[in-house]
Amino acid sequence: MASVQIKQVLKDGAPGTVLTLKGWVKTKRGSKNVNFIALNDGSCFDSIQVVADIEKIGEDLLKRISTGACLAVTGTLVESPGAGQNVEMQATQIEIYGEADPETFPLQKKGHTLEFLREIAHLRPRTNTFGAVFRIRHNLAFAIHKYFNDNGFFYLHTPIITASDAEGAGEMFRVSTLPAQNPPLNEEGAVDFTQDFFGSESNLTVSGQLQAETGAMALSRVYTFGPTFRAENSNTARHLAEFWMIEPEVAFNELEENMDLAEDFLRYCVRYIYENCADDLAFLNKMYDNELLSRMEFVINNAFKRITYTEAISILEQSGHKFEFPVSWGLDLQSEHERFLVEKHFKSPVIVTDYPKSIKAFYMRLNEDGKTVRAMDILFPGIGEVVGGSQREERYDKLLERVKDQGIHEEDLWWYLELRKFGTAPHSGFGLGFERMMLFVTGMGNIRDVILSPRTPGNAKF
Ligand code: 4AD
Ligand code: MG
Repeated sequence: MASVQIKQVLKDGAPGTVLTLKGWVKTKRGSKNVNFIALNDGSCFDSIQVVADIEKIGEDLLKRISTGACLAVTGTLVESPGAGQNVEMQATQIEIYGEADPETFPLQKKGHTLEFLREIAHLRPRTNTFGAVFRIRHNLAFAIHKYFNDNGFFYLHTPIITASDAEGAGEMFRVSTLPAQNPPLNEEGAVDFTQDFFGSESNLTVSGQLQAETGAMALSRVYTFGPTFRAENSNTARHLAEFWMIEPEVAFNELEENMDLAEDFLRYCVRYIYENCADDLAFLNKMYDNELLSRMEFVINNAFKRITYTEAISILEQSGHKFEFPVSWGLDLQSEHERFLVEKHFKSPVIVTDYPKSIKAFYMRLNEDGKTVRAMDILFPGIGEVVGGSQREERYDKLLERVKDQGIHEEDLWWYLELRKFGTAPHSGFGLGFERMMLFVTGMGNIRDVILSPRTPGNAKF
């Protein structure tokens, strides 16, 4: 008999059905004659109640079952007298796949802190919290692919290893097969990467955008969704060294249309989770963030505010609020500034456009004023920047100037520049940080708690 998922059984299992269910014990309680086991296979938030008569199943076997043990339970579904569940299982036979010694199993007791659970990241998927988080994560990824598929986009798989620094920020992890000790040196005494595996200095990608642009210049609407890597030493609750990014790139879109796309896309994703993950959201809303659902509803029902960087600076300057970091035209917005705009001033997600060119990447389209670029950052409550994007510089000469201005070697980007030589077109795109979006739709406070195996400075275990 093939095993059935508990989700299916709880939804439409008919009393009288005989079947085998497999899963892990969430709790076990008992009286003299009968044990009640909550069995969970992760397919949904709820567990099924297994009723085990001590006489029928055997006292010795039941004694070996405790929280965390893995079981295959064969029995008959019966109507459940308990509230909130249609059926429970009257066990006729229990096979123990794996015991979990209550003396040493770290999740024997409930109520561990998230910090402690990070230390046992190999076991935390078994908690209610992380079960909910990972089911939502799957649904969010699915919603993203569905949105783009339904809107005529093609999923492009951009490379993970690359020779180009897409953001020009120099925060890259090197990929090399040269010996770490005594690598070959060139005449200048620097490491000779011509002898390396790829024949040039190569890194893990910080963004798939540049390659996605090559696709957009042929397929018009494309997106990437893959892991990205940043060797920035930011030990915050919003930064990972390895995170996933979604980057649509659209030919013929200008900044306005790029903002419309981003807003529609984000709203779709939030609504998808709201409608499809109700049980998990209810738990997270209760346990971690009582405003999770209302914040999601706000995003579903309200247009984002749109302001220029220049307007943002004057709002911050006139706010009378004491900020830790200085505010003045030309300086980048810090997280505290972003959150002030979103949480205190507008009380709404905000799209900030037209940043000074000096604080943004080389590929953003220069405005007529010669000082600002067609950038757009989307700021969310509780998170700050969730999306960064722009209209791209499609004019060859202007792009070349920006590349040189920023001290980037033009030879390294010859292929990117050529996109502007042959059939160039206005185009735009953006990058959504998948885990930042996860923070928004789970109410979790730390980005380490929305990814299976967080990579942060000093930590790549599990
Ligand atoms: O603003 P960023 O650096 O933009 C780009 O990489 C562009 N190439 C995107 C594009 O236009 N195609 O990064 C985009 C988003 C940020 O808004 C943030 O949500 C997320 O990626 N992000 C991070 N998330 C987690 N940890 C980090 N260290 C992140 N750095 C950026
Ligand atoms: Mg950014």
